Amino acid sequence: MRRYLIQTFGCQMNVHDSLRIEEVLSAQGYAATDAPELADLILFNTCSIREKADHKLRSAVGTFRELKERKRDLVMVVAGCMAQQRGEALLDEIDLVDVVIGPDNIAELPELVGHVRAGGPPVARTVFDLDAPSFLQAHAPTDRHEACAYVTVMKGCDERCTFCIVPYTRGAERYRTSSEIIAEIDRLCDAGVKEVTLLGQTVNSWHEPHESAEGGSRFAWLVERIAREVPKLARLRYTSPHPRHMTDALIAAHAELAVLPAHVHLPVQSGSDRVLRRMLRRYRRQDFLERAAKLRAARPSFTLSTDIIVGFPGETEEDFQQTLSLVREAGFVSVFAFKYSPRPHTPALRLGDDVPEELKSERLERLFEVADAQQAAHLQSLVGSELEVLLEGRSKTDPARMTGRSQRHEIVHVAVPPGLDMRGKLVKVRASSAYKRSLVAEAVEPWPRLPPVDAFPPVEAVQPARKQALRLPLVSS
Ligand code: 5AD
Repeated sequence: MRRYLIQTFGCQMNVHDSLRIEEVLSAQGYAATDAPELADLILFNTCSIREKADHKLRSAVGTFRELKERKRDLVMVVAGCMAQQRGEALLDEIDLVDVVIGPDNIAELPELVGHVRAGGPPVARTVFDLDAPSFLQAHAPTDRHEACAYVTVMKGCDERCTFCIVPYTRGAERYRTSSEIIAEIDRLCDAGVKEVTLLGQTVNSWHEPHESAEGGSRFAWLVERIAREVPKLARLRYTSPHPRHMTDALIAAHAELAVLPAHVHLPVQSGSDRVLRRMLRRYRRQDFLERAAKLRAARPSFTLSTDIIVGFPGETEEDFQQTLSLVREAGFVSVFAFKYSPRPHTPALRLGDDVPEELKSERLERLFEVADAQQAAHLQSLVGSELEVLLEGRSKTDPARMTGRSQRHEIVHVAVPPGLDMRGKLVKVRASSAYKRSLVAEAVEPWPRLPPVDAFPPVEAVQPARKQALRLPLVSS
């Protein structure tokens, strides 16, 4: 039997794509392995959002040089955003690579690998499917645990944020029909999924493919339809929304639909109007703060998290102060912050990269100080309160605990009796203490009684949903 090993870098979309790649390979009779020695195919699903990602890929591929030279029939594949951005050039730049494949070409992977195995030269396929967009369907839950799945609703990006490479690696926006999205979520729920995360580069710009963009976002309507038509779904998340599509209707949906969390990750990037304009974000600080305030008013203890770039070209101390004050005003409980990194093709290249590296690092640190204090205060405020947690797996550091996520996405460690497999289960807990980035909690209801040992189902039957799902034929339309 042939075996594959996949290394995934970057965002949730890549995690989703890697799972679909696994399905493509399984359908070809491949099995997964963690041991490079056993692998016949090694695939890197890459990210190119910042320059660091570039270095990561090169060093990751480099670690397999000796193996590749020894094992001549080992096929090395680069997929994802770096593959799309560099295309054929990657074959020359990294001599170990046999196949370069773009995010829209995953269904063609077996064909390209077959070509190389048959003695053909290294090959690159990076063509966007603009005419008849095909969406990779989730046949199975994610590997994180058996209760969560990602469902793509749109791909590509029509924004032109001046710092961002995504429009050049993922192409123009293309949308999936609501009926296809709902059918997929329905199937996943039948397979045991409790939480779905809708994915898209600007997920909330969604509208039906046949509708004109002039009509604006119909994402709130989509979310309402999912809530109505798939009532067995327990949690519905989405990432990443663009602030300019955070419509009143979507905010109202958060107030009305229990399936939506009292949380949104809403990237702001900067708190300075001058910088936002140069980033071409198409909203002002005040617009963002108004939407943040409306969201926070939608449900009790609504929380927001965000992405921020420090050291964008021309960012002054005053601009940065504006960012710090926005972080306080919006009350983010979690901040993902990055130093500006110039990327190929992006308009911001013309603005230079004039904030010195040390200053970027210093601003990043100051930003984290404010963000960490807010996160700590938020988690502390939850001690004593009741939460519903979706358990994911045993804690790596303490086998007496399982780790999961609250409805608002806080990480929660829950004491669970040893031997009790509660993966994928929703449980009510009470938070008893707070760490820097997570909570500790105890169950408020008694655990189900452990079945006697001989009542355990045979191993084959433990994960029927995933096993069955993997046997389905591959559909990529
Ligand atoms: N430099 C630094 N950070 C970036 N991001 C996107 N492009 C860049 C860049 N060129 C950040 C943004 C985005 C997150 C996914 O990555 O904050 O929201």
